[in-house]
Order: sequence, then structure tokens, then C-alpha cells
Amino acid sequence: MRALQYKAYGGPEVLEWAEAPDPHAGPGQLRIAVRAASLNPIDWKAFSGAMSGGEPMAGTGYLGYDAAGVVDEVGDGVTGVAVGDEVFGRGRNTQAESAVVGSWAAKPPSIDWAVAAAAGVAGETSERGLRLLDVKAGDTLFVDGGAGGVGAVAVQMALVRGARVIASASEANLDYLREIGATPVLYGQGVAERVRAAAGGPVDAVFDVAGKTPVEDLISLAPEPSQVLSVANFTAARAGARVTGGGADSHPMEALALVADLLAQNKLAIKVQTFPFDRAAEAYRISQSGHVRGKLVLVP
Ligand SMILES: NC(=O)c1ccc[n+]([C@@H]2O[C@H](COP(=O)([O-])OP(=O)(O)OC[C@H]3O[C@@H](n4cnc5c(N)ncnc54)[C@H](OP(=O)(O)O)[C@@H]3O)[C@@H](O)[C@H]2O)c1
Repeated sequence: MRALQYKAYGGPEVLEWAEAPDPHAGPGQLRIAVRAASLNPIDWKAFSGAMSGGEPMAGTGYLGYDAAGVVDEVGDGVTGVAVGDEVFGRGRNTQAESAVVGSWAAKPPSIDWAVAAAAGVAGETSERGLRLLDVKAGDTLFVDGGAGGVGAVAVQMALVRGARVIASASEANLDYLREIGATPVLYGQGVAERVRAAAGGPVDAVFDVAGKTPVEDLISLAPEPSQVLSVANFTAARAGARVTGGGADSHPMEALALVADLLAQNKLAIKVQTFPFDRAAEAYRISQSGHVRGKLVLVP
């Protein structure tokens, strides 16, 4: 099978779509024939070497944390899924013709492969963030970075919970935020003032999915520092905000089941831009620009 891979750290030019060993489903896992796999910023943080701690590369690097496809191998202990089922989920090294997922949900038949592939990381991260912030009906939530992969899903999932959502974006994405049901504000210098003006009252929680605004500004909006949660600025914890990278905070099977249900009911829409696997470098250049609307997805 072929997989997206790199043998040296660098820019998107280091990526190759080339032969790789076949993966196999271990206990509790599924292997899928991949129909689509999404990009997440952690992928380019990996191949750029930003996560290497200064160590040289050992072996070949592979990419991808979510995908959608057809089950072709079922690991020991897995029940309720059979070869031939259509699923989407989260795994490692998913930007490949064949990939293993450790958490999944059935792909709603009405949902496109690329949209399903885009829903894994963004959906689980959004479910986790909104649960940890305990976003409830009637709350006012500020999503900083609401037009990106995670942000646009978090906005819509918060609306489903009955919250009022204020979200930030660049000028180019303010209309998109309106389209998905948020009250838009421009990010950057003065964003906290603009959020206060838009809220016209207290903000109950802040979900920082971009990691760009000084955490003090975000904390100034919340009733207490712990009602600011970041998935992108891990230094925010020093100021009393909460940070989450998944792990024990994550309920991936429940999250993906919820996301599948919302997609099927059209309560969640994910805007996707697709590229063939052998043009992944183009998609990664867009992702690295940091100005993505919705999700970038690779297809065979
Ligand atoms: N900890 C976790 O579990 C976890 C999980 C998933 C993702 N993440 C992290 O979360 C971050 C976002 O991921 P993503 O997939 O949503 O990325 P993405 O799709 O690239 O979106 C990034 C968004 O950030 C917005 N943005 C850029 N500059 C901003 C600023 N100064 N203030 C506020 N927003 C700004 C952009 O808006 P415009 O396009 O309008 O400029 C864009 O929509 C990444 O750092 C990723 O690694 C963490």
C-alpha cells in the first residue's frame, strides 16, 4: 500500500506518496481501506520537526490522525462491526491507502467520505472541549478561532447544546461564522473588547482553539480562569486556564457517535476542500498558512 511519508524534517516538499508496510488491526482496533483522511495542524508540526525536541529523525515519519473508509480487518475483542462496514474515526498514520483506527463510528450513508474523514479529530476535540467547559443551554460561549477545523465544529456543537456562540475569525471568514450560526468578531488586538460588546453581558466560557490571543485577554472575559480552555496554547495553564491534549479527558467512541448523529441530522456541516494524496504538499501549504476555512482532506 502507499502512504504519505517523510524521511527528513522540513517543509511540505519533504512529503512523498510512496510504498509503506501494510498496517494490521490490533486488539480493539479496525483496519480500513481509506477513502479520505483529513489534515490536522499536528501533522505539519510533526514533519517540520517542531515536535522532535531537537533530536534527528529516526526512521520514516507517517501522517494523519483521522480517516473514513471501509472496514477490511477487525481486531480481537471488537464487536458490532464487520468487514465491509463504512466508518470514520481516529487513528495514527491515516494518510495512507490502508489505516488502523482505534475509535470510530458508523459513517452516516448520506455523508460524503471527505466530510466523515474531517469529523474525527475536529469532532472529538470539540466534544471534549464543550464537555470540559460544561457548556449548557443559555450559556454564552466565546470560540477563539471559530472558522478553522476544530472551531467551526465547536461552534455548531455548542449551538446544539443550546448555547449562544460568539466566535472570532479574520475578515474573510466573518460571513462564514454567521452562516454556521455564530455572532462573528474580528480576532487580533482588541478582540476581548469586541467579544464583550457582542455579548452585551457575561461570557460563561471561552474555548481557545487557535492559541493566538494572549491568555490574559481570554481570562478577562470568563467568570474564572478555569472557564478558559485551550487546545492550542499549552502555556495558558500557567495563568490558571485549563488545557487539554486528549488522553484521559477524551471519550472518543461517545464523541464520534454524537458527531455521526449530528452529521446525519444535518445539525453539523463541515466545509471541506479536497486534494488527491499525491498533491498533499499543496494542502499542507494552506494548512501551514494558519488561515483555513473548515477542513482540508486528502483522497486517493
Ligand atoms: N489539544 C488537542 O486535543 C487538539 C486537537 C485538535 C487541534 N489542536 C490544535 O488546535 C489548533 C487549531 O486546529 P485546527 O485544526 O482548528 O486548525 P486550522 O483548521 O488550521 O484553523 C486555524 C484557525 O485559527 C484561526 N486564527 C488564525 N489566527 C488567529 C488569531 N490571531 N486569533 C484567533 N484565531 C486565529 C484561523 O482563522 P482565519 O482562517 O479566519 O484566519 C483558522 O480558522 C492547532 O494548533 C491544533 O494543533 C489541538
